[in-house]
Amino acid sequence: MHVDILELLNFRNYQKLELKLNDKINIFVGENAQGKTNILEAIYFLSSLKSHRTSRDKELIYWNKEKAYIKGEISKNLGQYKIEFLLDINGKKMMKLNGIGVSKSSEILGTLNSVVFSPEDLRLIKDGPAQRRKFIDNELCQIRPKYHYILGQYNKVLMQRNNILKSIYSSPSLKTTLEVFSEQLAEYGSIIIQNRVEFIKKLSLIARLIHRKITDGKEELEVIYKSDVNTNLSQNNIKQELINYYTNGIDEDIKKGFTLKGPHKDDLIIYINGIDVRNFGSQGQQRTAALSLKLSELEIIKSEVGEYPVLLLDDVLSELDPNRQFFLLNSLKDIQTIITCTSTRDIDIKKFGEKSVFEVKKGTVVRLE
Ligand SMILES: Nc1ncnc2c1ncn2[C@@H]1O[C@H](COP(=O)(O)OP(=O)(O)O)[C@@H](O)[C@H]1O
Ligand SMILES: [Mg+2]
Repeated sequence: MHVDILELLNFRNYQKLELKLNDKINIFVGENAQGKTNILEAIYFLSSLKSHRTSRDKELIYWNKEKAYIKGEISKNLGQYKIEFLLDINGKKMMKLNGIGVSKSSEILGTLNSVVFSPEDLRLIKDGPAQRRKFIDNELCQIRPKYHYILGQYNKVLMQRNNILKSIYSSPSLKTTLEVFSEQLAEYGSIIIQNRVEFIKKLSLIARLIHRKITDGKEELEVIYKSDVNTNLSQNNIKQELINYYTNGIDEDIKKGFTLKGPHKDDLIIYINGIDVRNFGSQGQQRTAALSLKLSELEIIKSEVGEYPVLLLDDVLSELDPNRQFFLLNSLKDIQTIITCTSTRDIDIKKFGEKSVFEVKKGTVVRLE
């Protein structure tokens, strides 16, 4: 799949932009703060219905304007699609698919898939568990719209349960309500855990093969989903285990004022040759592992939806040594790739085959070649 045309009105620092993109490689060059990442952000928005940088859509609207518009024309194996968004300053989001208004996110999610790879992703291993959970969730939300819904429900119920935990001292009668929320949380939580476990099993297999290739067979990568519950159980039994946690841990939860266990606390453990790379790996190993995980995402999407997603590489090439750069670029074959960089000197541009190069300056884009 690829994005053929991207149109923006009052999105970030673009008052008006109409871009025709190359099916293969697109390189956006420009100094800092000119609007390179904003372009990737708009494409990411078309696929995920949210920014990868902020949870507040309002920030995406050009300062002092009321509305922002994003349009993408997309080609896939089975045809052409048009996605449009109109964001307004009051937080409203209007969506259209092929010119027809839609109200549910799930009707648009999955039309376009994208994978964004930025310098933060290279720190995926080193960062805290929240980043790794986000990595899994973002992926699952794209390939399974139902997961997107369940995760939203889980977070809503979690917040409600936490609010009750905080106020139960003053109103003990809330205890029955708490039980209702615990049951709901366990229901959504068990679905989340089951989806994540299955996804990580698949990811681990693919990432291991990729990692072997990058390291010339020297390193074996393994990714494990770490949870307080026994993840080998059926969804119903996972649910029961979560309910037990909530029941047995209630005093502790009330003391802390929030829910201490559940999928919102889970993590990934990444091993190289049997050693936990987060604690004992070199920076180089951690980066290679992150690269392997990211590249596996492309393969998983391909296997789930039948086509490669669009790859968004934000300032990441200059952070990779020539070996890893070479491996990455070699893996791109049929994948539409949007690359940003501050200077084409950072990357060996001759290595790219078919490509378009654009210069980005203060919210304007000029095609150079
Ligand atoms: N809502 C907005 N309205 C107008 N300009 C914005 C908005 N949000 C960010 N900017 C501007 O966008 C620029 C940053 O764009 P970005 O794409 O992150 O830059 P880079 O080229 O470094 O990737 C900055 O100049 C910032 O002031
Ligand atoms: Mg940037």
